[in-house]
Amino acid sequence: FAFDEESERRIPDILARYPEAKRASAVIPLLWLVQDQMRRQTGSAWVPKVAMDVVAARLGMAPIRVYEVATFYFMFNTRPIGRYHLQVCGTTPCMLRGSEEVARACRDATGIKAYGETSADGMFTLTEVECLGACVNAPVLQVDLDYYEDLDYESTVRLIESLRRGERPKPGSVTGRQASAPAGERT
Ligand code: FES
Repeated sequence: FAFDEESERRIPDILARYPEAKRASAVIPLLWLVQDQMRRQTGSAWVPKVAMDVVAARLGMAPIRVYEVATFYFMFNTRPIGRYHLQVCGTTPCMLRGSEEVARACRDATGIKAYGETSADGMFTLTEVECLGACVNAPVLQVDLDYYEDLDYESTVRLIESLRRGERPKPGSVTGRQASAPAGERT
């Protein structure tokens, strides 16, 4: 692994955010850069171990410190994943509002049997995640970095079929329901 031209162009800005003596603080943004580069180059957003070593060398860190960070945060994929990463929120508010139906729709529409698997066509990886901080529009499915909200079985299947056709529906509430404004901001 080597950073490509686009990543190299972004690295100076990232490093400039941290004091010279605290270079290691850039480990998360550099791992994020790796994952984004892998998505651009291979269609699978993940961080190979060789890339962790490249990040360690660039920041003057022991490789083990980079492995620790990469394996701690669930937003870093340490194995290849499908083109689309379907992340079902399974925490209580989403569960009470039907996240099991969202998960069932994901399985039915992709052929995936269990969390952690990738579909046979390599298009989708399905995982379960904890609260995404969007409970007001539960249940929520995160696709890569986009949130789709107020889903049910049918709308989830439709969303996955759109993704399969190469379309990317507008993120947000699929029913158009607005989150209520805080009391002080209501008009
Ligand atoms: Fe699902 Fe908070 S519980 S977004």
